[in-house]
Amino acid sequence: MRFEIVNAKQTPLRDEDVKSIVEIERHPMVKKWLIDYADEDFEKELEEYKKFFTDLQNNNLADVLIAKHEGRAIGFLALWRINEESGKAASIGISVHPDYWRKGIATSLVKESIRLAKGRGIGKLIIETLEENSAMKHVAEKIGFKLEGVRRILKDGTYHNEDVYVLNL
Ligand SMILES: CC(C)(COP(=O)(O)OP(=O)(O)OC[C@H]1O[C@@H](n2cnc3c(N)ncnc32)[C@H](O)[C@@H]1OP(=O)(O)O)[C@@H](O)C(=O)NCCC(=O)NCCS
Repeated sequence: MRFEIVNAKQTPLRDEDVKSIVEIERHPMVKKWLIDYADEDFEKELEEYKKFFTDLQNNNLADVLIAKHEGRAIGFLALWRINEESGKAASIGISVHPDYWRKGIATSLVKESIRLAKGRGIGKLIIETLEENSAMKHVAEKIGFKLEGVRRILKDGTYHNEDVYVLNL
């Protein structure tokens, strides 16, 4: 399947792209894997995302890559800068619409984020994922991320293990 990856800082998103992104995040098969998901009203969440993308050019803490198929946003990756004493690091958040899983989209997004991060002088990438998230773990491991630790986290009232994967660039 053909898809392209665009950098949302270089190619501003249309409202329909932002709507597609919110729909991906709210999809039950996606939402169940997200750790800090604030379950809000659709319109409220859409407005927050529109504001985030409008302000993205001036946001030095975030970059977003969008995967598009036939002009439609089908997946995205956010790279969040975090301060670590050892140097510049960034955390990856990623979601792909379930209709497009297992087509290499997340793999391509993560690989592109590595190029982006290197260009920004980031020395370390982090992926935090639920231990049960075999697909995400597989993507991280095949690209070379190493399991650095496991945390106990509370999600929807239940404790889970969260794996912390790291790639030193
Ligand atoms: C995790 C996610 C981003 C992967 O997206 P994707 O585009 O399907 O990923 P890819 O196609 O690039 O790669 C998936 C890999 O995992 C494998 N995989 C898929 N489901 C799997 C499973 N249940 N167990 C083991 N491996 C699995 C695929 O075979 C593929 O491996 P391969 O390339 O060696 O064949 C997607 O499933 C998703 O959006 N999930 C919900 C949100 C989420 O979990 N985000 C991450 C939170 S940290």
